[in-house]
Amino acid sequence: MSQQSARAVLLGNDRGGYTVPTDRLYPFQWNWDSGFVAMGWATFDEARGFREIERLLEGQWDDGLVPQIVFHAPSDDYFPGPEVWGIRRTPPTSGITQPPILATAVRRMWDGARDRPAAEARTAALYPRLLASHRWWQRARDPTGAGLVATLHPWETGMDNSPAWDTALGRVPTETRTPIRRRDTRHVDASMRPLGEEYLRFIHLVDRFRDVGWEPRRMLATSPFRAADIGTNAILLRAERDLLTLAGRFGTAAEVAEITERIARMQSAIDGLWSETGGIYLSFDLISNAPIAGATSAGLLPLFAGGVPAPRVAAMGATLRRWGRAVRYLVPSTDPADARFEPRRYWRGPVWAVTNWMVVEGLAGAGDLVLAADVQLATATLVRGGGSVSISIR
Ligand code: DGY
Repeated sequence: MSQQSARAVLLGNDRGGYTVPTDRLYPFQWNWDSGFVAMGWATFDEARGFREIERLLEGQWDDGLVPQIVFHAPSDDYFPGPEVWGIRRTPPTSGITQPPILATAVRRMWDGARDRPAAEARTAALYPRLLASHRWWQRARDPTGAGLVATLHPWETGMDNSPAWDTALGRVPTETRTPIRRRDTRHVDASMRPLGEEYLRFIHLVDRFRDVGWEPRRMLATSPFRAADIGTNAILLRAERDLLTLAGRFGTAAEVAEITERIARMQSAIDGLWSETGGIYLSFDLISNAPIAGATSAGLLPLFAGGVPAPRVAAMGATLRRWGRAVRYLVPSTDPADARFEPRRYWRGPVWAVTNWMVVEGLAGAGDLVLAADVQLATATLVRGGGSVSISIR
């Protein structure tokens, strides 16, 4: 996989200012995927990088929510389509969200831009939208100001069928009023996808949220799935730090103070999710009020958020090295020693280039340059061996 073929993947998946994560399997614009691909585009086409985020934000709701999916153009290749979500807006969107990587992507594109006037103008226009989205997270998903945001659907975590969600999702009923018409298993082998029973529960949640009119307070109060995902919280903390930098340039003193306050709260709440015995951070089940046992790659993402004490960085390094002795390529999405590890099934084992990128950034920022280089090399080797299919981030 040369730089040229990586670019060819983006060009091939371009649908007019936005990029589909995978041809056919994911035929619309997805939130966090677009954050990552925007940074990829910006390495050779800065304007196109910004365009990716601008197109995604065509789907942003008035209350600040940035949806998980924006359905710019119809496609029969995906379930659940816009008719299942039942959201009447243009363009149609889904009604849940995804990990908030956007402020980080915009800050990075702004920092690295060679065309300064264009980057300044586009970032200035994006900044209030990003601020609105972070305020939405706080208001809709952490209304008491505890410092951890709730995710209400495994799809919101981006790590849909992670073993971390097995128990919490197991409490969600399998009854749905929506006929399940899966398309994903037409495009990829079923052994790489979530199970039928998981889909019933996924769609039960969609039915429930549609029933309460996608009203954030009712969704939060009534959802049978409610987790403080360590991945989402770490990505949001990092995004808040990046938004703070943007606020210093494009915002007001009051906004700087507001973001600074949120960062302090999140930092201290995330600190409390550390597992000394696991040598990794854990998600927290907000319904059973208990940490979610079992290590996954999401538990390494506080490295990406920054501010992790040195002994914890060392302990996560040891965890990662132990995983590295059990698999060919870092970073497996689930601890390979976990009985639930499945090397082919989506987020239960396979390596994800986007996670690796965040882990590399985090390790390098925390000073473990050797392990950062190891993960980077593993990623490049894996992608090169796999060819163009492996570069797609889903
Ligand atoms: C899926 O796999 O269909 C979900 O939309 C992922 O976000």
